[in-house]
Amino acid sequence: MNNRRNWLKQISLGTIGLGLYNIEAFANPTEEYVFPDLEDSPITLRSNENPYGPSPLALAAMTKSINNSNRYGWDLSSELITQISKKNSVADNNILLGAGSTEILDLVLQYTALKKGNFILAETTFDYWTAPYEKLGLKKITVPLTKDKKHDLKGMLEAIDSDTKMIYICNPNNPTGTICSREDLISFIKEATKKAIVFVDEAYIDFTKERSLSDLVIENKNLIITKTFSKMYGLAGSRIGYAIAHSATIEELDTVRSSQNMAVSVVSTAAAIASLNDEKFIQQVYTANEEVKKYTIDQLTLLNLICIPSYSNFVYFSLDNYKKDYFKQLEDHKIQGTKIYEENGKWTRITIGTMKEMQRFIAAVK
Ligand SMILES: Cc1ncc(COP(=O)(O)O)c(C=O)c1O
Repeated sequence: MNNRRNWLKQISLGTIGLGLYNIEAFANPTEEYVFPDLEDSPITLRSNENPYGPSPLALAAMTKSINNSNRYGWDLSSELITQISKKNSVADNNILLGAGSTEILDLVLQYTALKKGNFILAETTFDYWTAPYEKLGLKKITVPLTKDKKHDLKGMLEAIDSDTKMIYICNPNNPTGTICSREDLISFIKEATKKAIVFVDEAYIDFTKERSLSDLVIENKNLIITKTFSKMYGLAGSRIGYAIAHSATIEELDTVRSSQNMAVSVVSTAAAIASLNDEKFIQQVYTANEEVKKYTIDQLTLLNLICIPSYSNFVYFSLDNYKKDYFKQLEDHKIQGTKIYEENGKWTRITIGTMKEMQRFIAAVK
C-alpha cells in the first residue's frame, strides 16, 4: 500500500503545475522510482505488457498534453520522429509512426499484398496480424522453428521462391523468447533482401542487450524494422509504434494509407516523447524484469517444467510434466495466462509481471 501511495505521490507531484522543476525532479538519476504495488487484484500475465508503466514522466506529459487535444499533433509528431531517429541513428525520413506496431504490421501486409505472391514466417511466431492474408490475395508459407525454438534462418532462406514478397522475423521471437544474433541476421538479410522484403519485428529488443538492426536500413531498401512503445515503455494502451526503413521504402509504405503520421493522438505522442527520455525508468524496468524472470524460470524448473531461455519479458515453457489442470489453477487464482501454442510438448507462455505477481503465479501452479 505504501508503495502505491508513493507512486501516486510521484505522479501527482509531476502533474501539479507541470513546471520544469517537477519534471527535473523526476529525472533525478540518483532517486529510484517506487513501482506501484497492486496487492491482491486479478493478475494479467497474458499480453507481455509492462507491469510497472507508464513511466512517471510519461504520465506527467500525458496529463499536460490533454489540453492540446483540440489541435492536430503535426508538430509533436515531428518532434517524436526526430527523437526516435536520433535514438536509432537514422534520419527523420526513415521513420513512420503508427497506432501501435500493429498498424505498421497491417501496413506492411497490405503493401506486400499489392504485389500478390507469398510471404514467409516461422511456425511458431507472432502471427495474429496476418489473419487477412488470404483476403488480400497472399499465400502464407511457414517454416518450423529449430529444436531449441529459434528461427531457422537457413530453412527460411531455402523457402524463398520467385513469388516470395516478404519474410517476417520476430526478434526476440514471441512466444518463444529466443533471439537470432546480429551476425546471423546480417548474413540472412544480405541474401534474403536480394529477393524480397525482410520485415524484422523488434517489439522486445529493449529487453536485451542486442543492438537494433535499424542502422542497416540506410543501405538496404528491402529491410523494414518495426518497434513499439507498448512493451518496455509501458504504453500498450496508448497505441504507439513505428517503422524504420529506407526513406524510399517509407514513402512507398505511406502510399497504402491516406495520411501521414495521423493515427497517433497528441496525448500518446507526448507520452512517447517523455518515455524516450526517461532512461531511469527503462533501466529500472530492465533490471526488475531480469530479476523476476530469473525467479520465475528457477521456480518453474524446480517444478520440473522445461523453460526456454528468454530474451524478453515472457517465458515459454512446457506443460508436458505438469500433473494438474494448469488453466484451472490459473483461473482459480484470478490469473490470466495464455493458450497452448504447440500441442506437441504443450508449450505455453507466461508474461513476467512484478515479483509479487510472479510469486502468486508460482504459488498458484505449485
Ligand atoms: C512481436 C509483437 N509485435 C507487435 C506487437 C503489437 O504491439 P502493439 O500494436 O501494441 O505495438 C506485439 C504485441 O504483443 C508483439 O508481441
